[in-house]
Amino acid sequence: MPKKACMLLILALPLLSYQAGKSDFYELSPSLELTRPRPEDFRTWHFSGSAVIPDDKNSNKAIFPGIHQVYIDPDSYKTHQEKGVFPDSTIIVMEVLHIDQRESVGGFGYFTNGGQDILVAIKDRRAFKGNGWGYFLFGDKEIKSGLPSKAAEDSRCTSCHQAAAEEDEVFTQYYPDLRRKK
Ligand code: HEC
Repeated sequence: MPKKACMLLILALPLLSYQAGKSDFYELSPSLELTRPRPEDFRTWHFSGSAVIPDDKNSNKAIFPGIHQVYIDPDSYKTHQEKGVFPDSTIIVMEVLHIDQRESVGGFGYFTNGGQDILVAIKDRRAFKGNGWGYFLFGDKEIKSGLPSKAAEDSRCTSCHQAAAEEDEVFTQYYPDLRRKK
């Protein structure tokens, strides 16, 4: 190989082989606390769909009122498409953007107001019981205060997901893009 081409290859190698791992985006510590995933990271993942759940249409009793945007890490999305299972280390993030209703120039609508919760489901069968999913909630107040940046596993979430979600605790019935495309 000519010397110049060889140099180019050596320079290009780190770029080619570098693929950001999930651990660059989140960390599950030995105590099962999760470091808050950052929007600038998970918004680059596979976007699986969104829903609007306005509180006023739910007698002000919606559990997570707002715009739900769901992302899954690209490696696990690929594995699920190929093999039909959510593998260990799957991470699914649902960001809930808080909304206010407004009359706008374009008509009546629901607009984001800067509030945000980050909900996370992680599959790790060594770490979590049952089907192996752990759930984490980062509320708006904590996010705004900057602290804490870690959350403990939240046991309130599991039963509803186990009872009502279509596939392995994931609500694929509402986010068909998370289904396997046969
Ligand atoms: C009463 C039932 C219920 C409870 C309790 C609940 N969820 Fe969910 N969750 C849902 C439903 C329904 C969806 C899909 C539709 C939507 O709301 O967007 C969902 C979607 C999700 C998603 C997107 C991926 C998926 O599984 O479809 C995540 C992540 C998530 N929830 C995390 C949590 C966390 C964390 C908690 C606890 C703090 C929690 N959930 C509590 C019903 C529930």
